Amino acid sequence: MSNFIYINDVGPRDGLQNQATILEPRIRIELIRRLIDAGIPGIEICSFVNPKAVPAMSGANQIVKALGDITNSDLSVLVPNMKGYELARNAGAKTITVVPSATETMNQKNINMSLSKTIESAKDILKAATSDRLGTRAYISVAWECPYEGKVDTSTILSIAEQLLESGASELILADTIGATNPKDVGHLFREVSKIADVAILSAHFHDTRALGLANVVAALNEGITKFDACIGGLGGCPFAPGAAGNLATEDLCSMLHQMGYKTNVDLQKLLEVVQFISLQLEREIGGRMTPWFKKSNFSA
Ligand code: COA
Ligand code: ZN
Repeated sequence: MSNFIYINDVGPRDGLQNQATILEPRIRIELIRRLIDAGIPGIEICSFVNPKAVPAMSGANQIVKALGDITNSDLSVLVPNMKGYELARNAGAKTITVVPSATETMNQKNINMSLSKTIESAKDILKAATSDRLGTRAYISVAWECPYEGKVDTSTILSIAEQLLESGASELILADTIGATNPKDVGHLFREVSKIADVAILSAHFHDTRALGLANVVAALNEGITKFDACIGGLGGCPFAPGAAGNLATEDLCSMLHQMGYKTNVDLQKLLEVVQFISLQLEREIGGRMTPWFKKSNFSA
């Protein structure tokens, strides 16, 4: 469909993995069902990681099983290693996402593997998932800047992207994990990666640390990107990436896209109700940068 922008909400994973309040699987399943009801086309529902490392993500198995009936949203799960892949596949996950970072230190801190081991592992997982007929997505984390090693070279990203695509990644997500990039660098990297990958399979994942989330989206749109990750209520952050503030809020992204004439299939009013739901569960006010405006304008429709 032309003019359609595909939104993948990473709230149940990126949004909740670092919260002070840990939500039990039952509530996370309710959140996911509410997001589906609001029309979100894709949702990252959980991660199969060591629950000792990320207690907020325990119960992944239960979540995947409980949502086995869903056919109107693409539900994906994050897997950091082969063990996570096997657990996800056995639980009945339909799409898996690998999460290599672009630098040595970030991989060590995040998944306790060297850069080269991480890439090899991600390739093995993608090949296994392809042969098991699962959907495949691949992040490249800290694609612009690493909290430990600073700016990342474009050539590094191109090399990782090439290897992930060769191994069967059907979607490639460039992630600004700590929210350190800007529209100019976003445009540059997507332009370069588009030379080796079909632009239709590229996606962007922005954190809003410096209030540049939406500006970065526009820069990506200008390069023909049609897929975006975002996070309900602007929650988010990685426990292993210092400085990672919340993701770009899904409601902000939808609102901007609708104003620009894009279609998303998302019912913004329902989405704002999901923000309220999760805010109640976390017992604190949440919401993206448009929250005061939504409230003031008594937003509806
Ligand atoms: N899911 C659940 N448990 C896992 C696992 C997975 N994917 N991978 C390993 N484990 C378990 C092992 O079974 C072992 O358990 P035990 O202590 O009961 O024997 C323990 O974790 C250590 O295994 P090991 O292979 O040595 O892993 P590790 O200590 O090197 O940790 C990760 C690797 C990836 C599991 C861990 O670093 C992790 O979960 N990180 C979270 C990353 C994350 O979520 N980041 C944010 C999103 S990008
Ligand atoms: Zn993120």
